Amino acid sequence: MRVHVADHPLITHKLTVLRDESTPSPIFRALTAELMTLLAYEGTRNVRVEPVTIRTPVAQTQGVRIGKPKPLVVPILRAGLGMLDGMVKLLPTAEVGFLGMARNEVTLEPTTYAERLPEDLADRQCFVLDPMLATGGSLTAAIEFLFDRGAQDVTAICILAAPEGLAAVEKALAGREVTIVLGALDERLNEHGYIVPGLGDAGDRLYGTV
Ligand code: PRP
Ligand code: URA
Repeated sequence: MRVHVADHPLITHKLTVLRDESTPSPIFRALTAELMTLLAYEGTRNVRVEPVTIRTPVAQTQGVRIGKPKPLVVPILRAGLGMLDGMVKLLPTAEVGFLGMARNEVTLEPTTYAERLPEDLADRQCFVLDPMLATGGSLTAAIEFLFDRGAQDVTAICILAAPEGLAAVEKALAGREVTIVLGALDERLNEHGYIVPGLGDAGDRLYGTV
């Protein structure tokens, strides 16, 4: 598994405002989308492309276009939905599938409550979006789901992660073709399974408490 922590002052600046508890939902949503676009640049570094020949007004030349089969972007509901627009802006030809997962706040175990994905993901390159990698349970379950359907390789893009959760994902998915791109690697998890310093509950801050 490869892990890449983005290191850019624009990302750190936007993350600082995102973390701030006084940042209201509309700004939080806008910043999540902007951060996603910046992280997508790194997260799509290995996107498959195929050669194409074009003519400029001056000469014929070689370029590339996004390859086939189309990449599949999978936001993890709810909070991952806040990252979708930022991703498809950079990868407009991608298809989008959905996984709904909720973490039990007592046991911290994830349950899958919704799924809308192609049955066969053979040879598909998948990009999973979830802002928070805390214990790692949700991300591990999501990635295993995609591999069980035949996905070829999976890149997960998360805004924040805890070291404990990252280690758990690495252990669970050892030997798999997985890349994880992070906006920041935080200090730790607290006793409630929240990332510290983190940003609180990403889903609630994006969409309100349910
Ligand atoms: C959050 C977050 C991740 C998960 C991370 O979702 O978006 O999916 O928790 O925690 P883990 O690494 O310990 O599994 P949550 O379950 O709160 O659902 P929501 O997006 O609907 O708020
Ligand atoms: N889910 C969140 O939204 N935030 C955390 O800190 C941990 C899990």
